[in-house]
Order: sequence, then structure tokens, then C-alpha cells
Amino acid sequence: MVKKNFMVIALDGGAASGKSSTAKILAKQLNLLHVDTGAHYRTIAFILLKNDIYPSNHELIVNKLKNFKIGSMIEGRDILMTINGVLLGQDDLRSPLVNQNVSSFSAVPEVRHFLLEYQRSQVEFAAKNGFDGLVMDGRDIGSIVLPKANFKFFLEADPATRYSRRALQGHQDAIVARDQLDSSRTTAPMVCASDAVRIDTSHLTLEEVANHILAIILNY
Ligand code: C5P
Repeated sequence: MVKKNFMVIALDGGAASGKSSTAKILAKQLNLLHVDTGAHYRTIAFILLKNDIYPSNHELIVNKLKNFKIGSMIEGRDILMTINGVLLGQDDLRSPLVNQNVSSFSAVPEVRHFLLEYQRSQVEFAAKNGFDGLVMDGRDIGSIVLPKANFKFFLEADPATRYSRRALQGHQDAIVARDQLDSSRTTAPMVCASDAVRIDTSHLTLEEVANHILAIILNY
């Protein structure tokens, strides 16, 4: 059973638009569980690549998924996905090879289908574990994963700003190429849901973005 005032927030947006960092601030301020669905796709991509399976090897992907058992670990307000008991570190999840291939893996319908129920089950998990709600970030959260979310936001920023954010984090990332693949795939493309609030974060600090969202939520 989900409590009456339990809050579900969908936070979508392109690569390096500041979704996860913003979600972490919201999670702290509002006692929410934070689910980073990008990390789910990155985990799958890393393990498949490690097994020499590439996005074009459709049959091998489908077979491998049958042997993947999803689990979870809680770290503060973050829930982290494990596959067959393995939790990957940030260096692996954000490696250049994963950045290069993740969008092609995430366009495979079976990969999306494999993760969907797990992602949706996080609402119940958050409710049962004492959180006042959940904030989930990704590309299709407001449109497909949690279409009934209480609040939906879509973060945008100009490519130059996003490239410099990634460079500051020390990562190499083909941001525009990923966005293009993510928004043009057939299954659950990246989209700003029709009832989402669009926020351009190009000239805002993280705190300003979070405060803007908090003001909308708290004044609702
Ligand atoms: O958010 P992040 O940049 O870590 O996501 C990595 C990739 O995972 C995206 O480029 C996209 O291909 C995929 N993804 C997705 N749907 C989501 C979240 C991420 O397709 N809900």
C-alpha cells in the first residue's frame, strides 16, 4: 500500500542535463528514494560488452538476459541495481566504451522490457522502506515507466554546457550522438511527456534547478 502523501517524481532529460545530481538533492530534501535508471542500462551494457556481446548481436543479448538475475543494494537514499549479485562501480559504468555503446543496447526492446517491471517496482519498495516518495531519473520515466507520476520534469541544456559538465567530471561522452539515438529509437524514445515541466538548466546552478523544482512541488 502506498501512503496518501507519497510523492512520485519523474525526472527525464538528455545526457549530462543534470538529472541525477538534481535528483539526489531532491531526494535529500524530501526524503525520497532515488532511482537512476541510466545506471541500469549502463550495467547491462557493461556486462554484455564484458562478454564480447555487442548491440548488433541481438540473439546473444536475448539469451544472455535470460541468465541475468536483478537484485538491489541501498546506499543512503540511492537504490543500486545488481546483476547476479554484482554491483558495478562508477568507473565501469561511466567508461568510454559504455558511453559509446549504451544507447544502442538501450534501443533493444528486450533490454527495455527486461528492466521495466524492476523499475516500476521501486515505488512499492520506497513506500515499504520508510521513504516519503521516489524520484526516478531517465529518458522515458514520465512517458512509459511511471506515467502516473505526481510530478514530471524534463531537463535540457545546450550541448556546450553539457560537454563542459562532463569534462569537469573527467568523462569522455558523445552526448549529442547519444541523445540522437535515444530520441529516435522506436521503443520508449526519450521524450518530454506532454504533462511535464520543461526546464532549461544551461544558465542555472544545480541548486537553482533543484530549488526551482522544489518550489513547484511545495507550492502545488
Ligand atoms: O542517464 P545516463 O546518461 O546515465 O543514461 C545512459 C543511457 O541509458 C542513455 O543514453 C540511454 O541510452 C539509456 N537510458 C534509457 N532510458 C532511461 C535511462 C537511460 O534508454 N530511462
